[in-house]
This record gives sequence, C-alpha cells and structure tokens, in this order.
Amino acid sequence: MKANEIRVFCPATIANVSCGFDVLGLALDAVGDEMVVRKTSEKGIKITKLTGQDLPTDTLQNVAGVAGLALLAESGYQGGFEIEIYKKIKAGSGIGSSAASAAGAVWAMNELIGKPFSPLQLVKFAMEGERLASGVAHADNVAPALFGGFTLVRSYHPLDIVKINTPSELFATVIHPQIEIKTSDSRRILKTTISLEDGIKQWGNVGGLIAGLFTEDFDLIGRSLEDHIIEPIRSILIPGFDAVKQKALETGALGSGISGSGPSIFALSKGEAMAQKVGQAMTEVYEKIGIDYDVHVSKINTDGIKQIS
Ligand code: HSE
Repeated sequence: MKANEIRVFCPATIANVSCGFDVLGLALDAVGDEMVVRKTSEKGIKITKLTGQDLPTDTLQNVAGVAGLALLAESGYQGGFEIEIYKKIKAGSGIGSSAASAAGAVWAMNELIGKPFSPLQLVKFAMEGERLASGVAHADNVAPALFGGFTLVRSYHPLDIVKINTPSELFATVIHPQIEIKTSDSRRILKTTISLEDGIKQWGNVGGLIAGLFTEDFDLIGRSLEDHIIEPIRSILIPGFDAVKQKALETGALGSGISGSGPSIFALSKGEAMAQKVGQAMTEVYEKIGIDYDVHVSKINTDGIKQIS
C-alpha cells in the first residue's frame, strides 16, 4: 500500500555557476527546506503550514502551489494535496529558495501517486513556480534540485536536461550577506544582447567546465569558473563582492562567483578543509565592513530531493 504522506528534504542550489547563466546549476547538501505533502480526497492544493519565512500561503501565490497545480492538471489523479513548508532557505538569498519549494512539492506528489512522471516532466512543472517567483520559467535551480549534482539545461525548447558528473572531492562554500535581492530585479538590469567576443569567452568556459567536471580536472574547473557577461553587471548590487571573491581565490578556491541572482557568493574548492578555509576568509571581509552573513560549506548533493520520513 502506498503511503498517504511524505516528508522530503529539498536542497538549496547554486544556479549559473559563473559561466552558465540560466543553464548550469548544482545542488547543495548542507542547506535545504523540508516539506510534508499529504494526499487528500478533496481536489486541489492547500498550503496548510509555512514556517521560517514570510511567504504567501494562497495556492495561486505560492510557488509550491502553482507547481503542484501544473502537475495535477496533467495527472489522472482524482484527489488533491496538502502541503506543509518548513523554510530554512531565505527568500531572495540566491540559493534557490523558490526552486526548493516548487521542486520539492512536485517530487513529493509524484512519489505519492506512484511516480507517473519522469524527472524531466517534474522540472517542467516546477518551472511554473519559478515563473511565478521571478517572471521567467528558468530551470537552472529546479533541475539540480530534482536530478541532483550538476545539471546542464542544454535546451529550453524542447526542454533537455543533462546530468553532469560531480567529482566527489568538490565542495561548495556559500556566503550570504544579509540583504535580499529579488531575482526579477537582478534580471531587469541585465543587457539583452551580448558581443560575439563575450560569447566566445563564455561558451569556451561552459565547455571547459563540463569537460573539467567529467574528467575531474580541478585546474580546468577552476579556469572555467569565469563570467564575462552577467557578473560585471550584477556584482554592483552585492556589497564587498570583489573583495570576497578575491579572498576566496587567494585562499585557494578553484573559482568564485555570484550564486544565482545573488546576493550570495559561492566558491568551489577541492576538499572540505579548503572549502572551510575559504569560508573563513570570505567571512573576514564581511566582519571588516560590518555586514551580517550566513555561511555554508557543503558537499555537492548528487541525489537531489530525498524522502526523509
Ligand atoms: N539563472 C537565474 C538568474 C537563477 O540568474 O536569474 C536565479 O536563481
């Protein structure tokens, strides 16, 4: 007999990973939300509890609600769902808060109704939550949350997601200066065209990063963590960005950049000890300029969303 209720861990994610705006992402292990999803005989979706953040509980205003409705519309399931959301990821922090809720909801629902949908289909449903959150149905947070590890959105039309190898020695450090940046705002300031020269640099780095991840060539991963298009524009929104990045690199990180749409800044390192050291060095910058922060050191989560009870 199938269970009527499931509790899931929904990981935070780092989108873009420097060179891959809207196409690259990775899932974290050390930080994520929890959700309880329950089948009900009543049709539709109700958000019955939401703790940790001040977010709407109206189904049509909530990313988990909207993503869940997208799944319900395509399933033959006759009942509905209740959702409890325990937010640990701060909204507007740049580590995939909306994605965790949207992806977690559809993953849990799919489990409860006997897994009729593939991970790719779940990404499509979860993207509706991202559309509500930021105005754009980007997949670079929900894909790693659902597939685990690193993912590449090779194409949006049609949607094509490729799971990328994750070297086990790779660790992420994320520092979140305590300001909120809405993804919609940090997208609005971007240019809509790029020069051929910047394009050449950027796709060279995307290819290099993918090759480095598959061959577990840490130097190549580090060389490829460059962003010539988005970072120069968005970094002005993040206090101390240049100093934090420089500290991370000087300390020994392979690379560093803006996590998603910011303000969090991430670094990737070889080994946990280096990732901890990099975290310490990054915090020193914010200590000095007097900005509060959260810092997370995490291995890359290769499983994605998982059932915890
Ligand atoms: N690719 C998206 C952006 C990710 O950078 O706007 C948002 O988390």
